[in-house]
Amino acid sequence: MKQKRKINKRKAWAGVVSFFLLVAIIMQIAILTYDFIIQKTDNVALIAVLILVMIVILSTVITLIDYIRRKIMIERPVRKILSATGRIAKGDFSVRLVPNHPYDKYDEFDVIMEDINVLAQELGKNEVLKTDFVSNVSHELKTPLAIIQNYAKSLQNDDLDDNTRQKYAQTLVSASKRLSDLVSNILKLNKLENQGIKPTKEKTNVTELLAQTVLQYEEILENKKINLDCDFDDIVIDTIPSYLEIVFNNLVSNATKFTPEGGDIFVSLKQVDNKIVFCTKDTGCGISNEVGARIFEKFFQADTSHSQQGNGLGLALVKKVVDILGGEISVSSQLGKGTTFVVTFFK
Ligand SMILES: Nc1ncnc2c1ncn2[C@@H]1O[C@H](COP(=O)(O)OP(=O)(O)O)[C@@H](O)[C@H]1O
Ligand SMILES: [Mg+2]
Repeated sequence: MKQKRKINKRKAWAGVVSFFLLVAIIMQIAILTYDFIIQKTDNVALIAVLILVMIVILSTVITLIDYIRRKIMIERPVRKILSATGRIAKGDFSVRLVPNHPYDKYDEFDVIMEDINVLAQELGKNEVLKTDFVSNVSHELKTPLAIIQNYAKSLQNDDLDDNTRQKYAQTLVSASKRLSDLVSNILKLNKLENQGIKPTKEKTNVTELLAQTVLQYEEILENKKINLDCDFDDIVIDTIPSYLEIVFNNLVSNATKFTPEGGDIFVSLKQVDNKIVFCTKDTGCGISNEVGARIFEKFFQADTSHSQQGNGLGLALVKKVVDILGGEISVSSQLGKGTTFVVTFFK
């Protein structure tokens, strides 16, 4: 992490002191000149005119010095900052300002310039994320829509036998389910990311919630002849059930999806002191280290053979929920052997 920035206060004080000395010297000159004038003449009118001239000259000198000081110390950096903020306002996030002093001699303007650089960089990153998100969503929408269009057209063919018609109809159903899953995941993610106020916690039987989630996968597990083992403690806590459901649902769904026929899945829910630990362990395809680093990204899917059955938003949602609830998630995996996800919540 970058060290805390210190504003060079000594420099600001040096400016104040030198301006004070300048004014004092000029006043001294004024007094000495006045003294000199009244010693040289008694003519009151002449004295008045000379004093007036002196006041005009000295005021002009002070004003000029102040003007130059302001121009160099304030106007120049302010103009630099204004041009940068103007470019940012127009959407140019490539702006980078070079501070006027070295790091240990920063003044307030240098700090503002550095903050503007960070702001522009962050806005630039967000812009890239937004564009990527939109292109990912469009891509994910287009694929099932194309399937729906093609199969709906094919269904209009009167020569189709019943079996093929059934198969086409089934494809339509699964493509439209994929669409509705995608839309509902995007909405959930958007809600989680933009929700200012969290839903209020309510007394929740976490064990029952998890058992219900697991039951939804009973049929798929039976069809794939996957052996499921569960070990649940009885846990009732104040929490946000809809958030926990996102975690349970996505991790159990992934374990089911990525475990081949005849594999094993172990799901556990344990309470250890003030911690609640939820774990899914499968004997599925596993995740390599490089892939493991990216699985929580939106739309990331490593295993393309299952890409038709998801949209890569599941783990992004899980991570978001875990972060909001102040929990932790970890994954350990061995390619070809299986994957374990451990989620820890603190009571
Ligand atoms: N249990 C698992 N076993 C193997 N790979 C997994 C597992 N869970 C997640 N992954 C990998 O992480 C990717 C992202 O998961 P997820 O965000 O849930 O997306 P989706 O399930 O829609 O593909 C998956 O596509 C897969 O490559
Ligand atoms: Mg998933």
